[in-house]
Amino acid sequence: MAKSINGFSKLPKTEKIDWLVENFCEGSPEAEKVLKQYWNADAKLQQLHDEFIENTISNFYLPLGLAPNFLINEEYLTLPMVIEESSVVAAASKAAKFWSERGGFKARVISTEKIGQVHFKYSGDRIELEKTIEQLKPKMLEAAKPITQNMEKRGGGILSIDLVDKTKELKEYFQLFVTFDTRDSMGANFINSCLEKFAEVLETNLPKEQLTVIMSILSNYVPECLVYAEVSCIVDDLGGDSHLSGEEFAEKFVQAVNIAEVEPYRAVTHNKGVMNGIDAVVLATGNDFRAVEAGVHAFASKDGRYTSLTHAEIKNGIFRFWIEIPLALGTVGGLTSLHPLVKLALDILQRPNALELMKITAVAGLAQNFAALRSLITTGIQQGHMKMHLMNILNQHQATKEEKKKMVDFFTHHTITHSSVIEQLEKLRANEL
Ligand code: MEV
Repeated sequence: MAKSINGFSKLPKTEKIDWLVENFCEGSPEAEKVLKQYWNADAKLQQLHDEFIENTISNFYLPLGLAPNFLINEEYLTLPMVIEESSVVAAASKAAKFWSERGGFKARVISTEKIGQVHFKYSGDRIELEKTIEQLKPKMLEAAKPITQNMEKRGGGILSIDLVDKTKELKEYFQLFVTFDTRDSMGANFINSCLEKFAEVLETNLPKEQLTVIMSILSNYVPECLVYAEVSCIVDDLGGDSHLSGEEFAEKFVQAVNIAEVEPYRAVTHNKGVMNGIDAVVLATGNDFRAVEAGVHAFASKDGRYTSLTHAEIKNGIFRFWIEIPLALGTVGGLTSLHPLVKLALDILQRPNALELMKITAVAGLAQNFAALRSLITTGIQQGHMKMHLMNILNQHQATKEEKKKMVDFFTHHTITHSSVIEQLEKLRANEL
């Protein structure tokens, strides 16, 4: 069997599938059927998706859900969320409703600077290099002009170019540390293209035998592209929803956040909950969730220890819960104008610019974290999860509406396990109930 292949990318899609099924799926017609089942009936739409990446053989669905009632800076929004994990959208919606009755979310963008670097080795004199780079700056800006022209018209562009001496950490290692304003685009292509122009200028103006450009690439660490979001209310307004009084709830909540601030094992899970909300909006709006994830977690460890992205306090009877997070997002370019569902998601969000999307996304993270902590410090997280688990098992066993209702009633007072659900369903079907 030929498990390796030359020229795979040149094969038509159906032949790629044939090759795959024959070599890796034991010729199973079922595998082929599953792959083709997910093709879109609209050939043009399918082609669009085929062309997003290489070697596409099918589509991989994720649910797109809606979390309504987000009151953000006095405006109601419904958030589109793409996520596979049950409970996340329900939790976001619950948190949104809760805070809409307590003044809503307040959010603001702190900074919008993006970063790129040209990494190079230089064996000549450092002072000489400094002087040369200073002289070359106008040349570099000129070389990047065809790329920056449009961005400048939109009010963005290159903000600064600095030489950084890294030779103490790595022999002969220097970098051009460049900052950018990319307006409403995430800016990856723009930044990388500018950097490559700068690298060319270095290569044509510094002695060949002294210079090696290693690489030119943006950084996904964007600690100066920061957004802040918060909720607050009087402590007494937090009660009523659980067995805890407002004061008890607030104190336990702040403790839970404090634990995530000092304890990395907890902080990672705490922040994972934040990212449930953030990634879901980032995906729905066609942004790069890997870039966001990488940047956010680097930020969470910026002081040398991984810590919570959110914070909480009680001061003069007021409970305040907030997040400060780096988010390099775009609302133009990339998938935003290509993917019909992304376009729709941005429409649902009332066509935000990048700054507005930063605020919305930070709020989604804060809301998600609030919902998770609220469950954790009151009922425990499993209550909600087990309900979804029950529904998943019932769906797997094609339970009818009637059966579902009876089962949900039963398991309101009994412990949910896979075997207990099956046993109860069998009893129900055998008319023993
Ligand atoms: C699960 O996806 C997220 C949580 O674990 C977050 C948390 O523990 O804070 C519930």
